[in-house]
Amino acid sequence: MIATALSTPALAQDRPAGLAGSGVVTSSRDNSPQRPIRFAAAVPAGAALIVPVTASMDLSASGLPAGTAAAVAAAAKAARYEGKPLSTLKLHDIGGHPAIVLVGVEKLAQPKEAALADAAGKAMLALRDQPSDIAILGGRLPAGSAPYLAYGAALAGYRYDRLKSEPKAPPANPVVVVSAEAGAEAAYAGDLAHVASAVRFARDLVTTPANELYPESFVAAVQRELKGVPNVKVTVLDEAQMRALGMGTLLGVGQGSRRPSRLLAVEYRGAGDTAPIALVGKGITFDSGGISIKPASGMWEMKGDMSGAAAAIGGVIAAAKRGAKANVIGVAALAENMPGGGAQRPGDVVRTLNGKTVEVINTDAEGRLVLADANQWTIRQYRPAALVNIATLTGAIVAALGEEYSGLFARNEELAGRLTKAASGVGEDLWRMPLHPSYAEDMASEIADIRNSKEGGRAGAGTAAHFISFLTPEPTAWAHIDMAAVDRAESDLPTVPKGPRGYGVRLFDQLVRSYEK
Ligand code: BES
Ligand code: ZN
Ligand code: MN
Repeated sequence: MIATALSTPALAQDRPAGLAGSGVVTSSRDNSPQRPIRFAAAVPAGAALIVPVTASMDLSASGLPAGTAAAVAAAAKAARYEGKPLSTLKLHDIGGHPAIVLVGVEKLAQPKEAALADAAGKAMLALRDQPSDIAILGGRLPAGSAPYLAYGAALAGYRYDRLKSEPKAPPANPVVVVSAEAGAEAAYAGDLAHVASAVRFARDLVTTPANELYPESFVAAVQRELKGVPNVKVTVLDEAQMRALGMGTLLGVGQGSRRPSRLLAVEYRGAGDTAPIALVGKGITFDSGGISIKPASGMWEMKGDMSGAAAAIGGVIAAAKRGAKANVIGVAALAENMPGGGAQRPGDVVRTLNGKTVEVINTDAEGRLVLADANQWTIRQYRPAALVNIATLTGAIVAALGEEYSGLFARNEELAGRLTKAASGVGEDLWRMPLHPSYAEDMASEIADIRNSKEGGRAGAGTAAHFISFLTPEPTAWAHIDMAAVDRAESDLPTVPKGPRGYGVRLFDQLVRSYEK
């Protein structure tokens, strides 16, 4: 007799209807909580210390007792430590403190966000696994510096531990910002604490693997994050709704996936009925390339191909939580780009919301396809004063700018200026790239209105930007940030532990502030 197990092999039909993955939950733990950030007037006994210093190495008003200050100064001298900006020196067991990290900061006449956050962050990275309390001594810095120190510590203290089955307990003791100023705590809690938490949220989304993060679960995570936040309206379009509207370029990208596509819009109104700023992000929860499949090496990083969407949504969440006096819309164009029997093919022609047709030469040039429909829908729906795209769009921008900059394309000088300024203030620098008229010829299709790529094309980042611009109706002020090179930090940055940067959230926070003034 033949065993039943052999005669009835496991078929796909054995799975519950609608199950798209294995159905086995990887972890039910939330991500590691961050160390609480507190403020106090005195240094907690037994804490590890972060001591910002300038090149003068004057420790007299640092908050250290005279004896400890003298011992620290002697140790620094012996180590030939000079307090250069962002240089650190870690000392041990002086004055009852398990560790003391000196960190250089430029001499400031008034508080400067990036310099202070970077210094606190850099020192925090040196104390990453420190079990004790950590106290930051802001004594010698200009009045108003304390919130920026807290901000840097919060950003650099980020961890993602939830997928280890036996995690080493992350340190839970607080970071205490020592400051004599009343109001520092409230100033932080009502403002930058919200930006830090939005950055953290964006980083979590980028790191979460694509078997857990797909269009629907992205939407659910955003809805959880927005619980109880006032003046926010969330709109979600499902595939049937997008089909009825005619959003063929977005739907085409997701049609090879078991996970349905979504368009998510978070609308925050903090400035009455003025025209909003729209941030529209590429949300490809996994980019295999589709039928134009990518090579294996590095493909895992394409779980982060929704970094633009995380930045756009993080930007609006930060504005909403801190109660910005601006109107901001965050839009995420969400789809999974997979090969399969139902996937779109090279050579297919698809139709975008406004009726224009696109010849899909390469299914791996999918970000521009989802953004075209998302931009048109956003303009129809909200009539924004400005629309900014952000996307891990092209490998070409990585080749052009490396990890130092993301690329900025714009057809509006005022908007380009605001973005460049916003970005450089927070270490998320942009470099302006051209929109040369020849890109239109590269993208000309013989049978449709435009094609999505050119075989053997050269200015890959520029032609991609042209494609989006062509399908984004004038006269909307439009800019596009190609962040493909900067979604992950390959090594620690002052406020970013190696890994996802949450790039764009701080930039958009600054952009929104520029409209508040
Ligand atoms: N998501 C990728 C771009 C990317 C590459 C992001 C490397 C991060 C790191 C994008 O969808 C893509 O595949 N672009 C293609 C476009 C080409 C087929 C015209 C590229 O850049 O190779
Ligand atoms: Zn992509
Ligand atoms: Mn691609």
